Amino acid sequence: MPAISASAPGKVILFGEHAVVYGQPAIAVPVHQVAARAVISPMIKAATGKIHINAPQVGVDADLARLSQNDPLAAAVRGALEALHIQEPPAFKLRVTSTIPLAAGLGSGAAVSVAIVRAVSAFLGRAFSEEQVSALAFEVEKLHHGTPSGIDNTVITYAKPVYFVKGEPNQTFLVGKPFTLLIADTGIPSPTRVAVGDVRSIWEKQPDRYDKIFAGIGDIVRKARSAIESGANESLGQLMEENHALLQQLDVSSPELDKLVGAAKAAGAQGAKLSGGGRGGNTIALANGNLEVVEQALLSAGAKGVIQTQVQ
Ligand code: PMV
Repeated sequence: MPAISASAPGKVILFGEHAVVYGQPAIAVPVHQVAARAVISPMIKAATGKIHINAPQVGVDADLARLSQNDPLAAAVRGALEALHIQEPPAFKLRVTSTIPLAAGLGSGAAVSVAIVRAVSAFLGRAFSEEQVSALAFEVEKLHHGTPSGIDNTVITYAKPVYFVKGEPNQTFLVGKPFTLLIADTGIPSPTRVAVGDVRSIWEKQPDRYDKIFAGIGDIVRKARSAIESGANESLGQLMEENHALLQQLDVSSPELDKLVGAAKAAGAQGAKLSGGGRGGNTIALANGNLEVVEQALLSAGAKGVIQTQVQ
């Protein structure tokens, strides 16, 4: 049996994070400049059923049997094996690597799960459908996020722009005119679970107030979808500004995120906002035409790295 390799891209949320957990739509796109990779090699001499996982970036180097039920890498492998009804696979070693920054809103957890699920199923000669891959990755997302909407596993599995509504069938959509985003990293890791939990606490105290904010974000997302589909990219900047302001009202922005958003705007970006769970992680800026200037401004304002990606 030869070694098998599978990979999955990162992602950014363009519009609608947090509100998507409460039933509003959100738009996310894949980021192909970063990726997670899973490589499986057979261990010819080892006993059937033995599985070793090596993921140096997260300090895992252990047999599957020794990893807890809550370990996300182990959960992805176990989920794939269960779905295939295989208890004792031929022995294999799984190596997981990723260029997606951790806890940065770029979908690192979901990408790792998607890559693992695909590699395991390919190694065993029983490829899953995209729907099955996404569903298995969603189960692992629950360990990372608590109450995930499912947007990360969806956009990363399909690797296309998605218009996502929790619990509804996946809708990919066409981009009328490509545009470029600058993704700027604050360098501050921010577990999504914490931000999502904090939003839930304030919503529980004042549901009417926060439901209005979520509905406002939903309106922005619907307008953004029409603009993207019809190629009216010039209206996206304003929509990003409005979405960022509502995220500030949810208290998921931070001085560092606001600084990057302000710097991008001051340097001529059409719009900018935080992307993903917030508090730390990344901002996105729309900067067609003046990319170099905006990128420099982001780095001067403290960005630890900037990724350029085209949405198409
Ligand atoms: O994984 P992140 O940080 O991009 O956050 C996911 C987006 C949230 O809406 C905040 C949570 C969710 O499950 O949709």
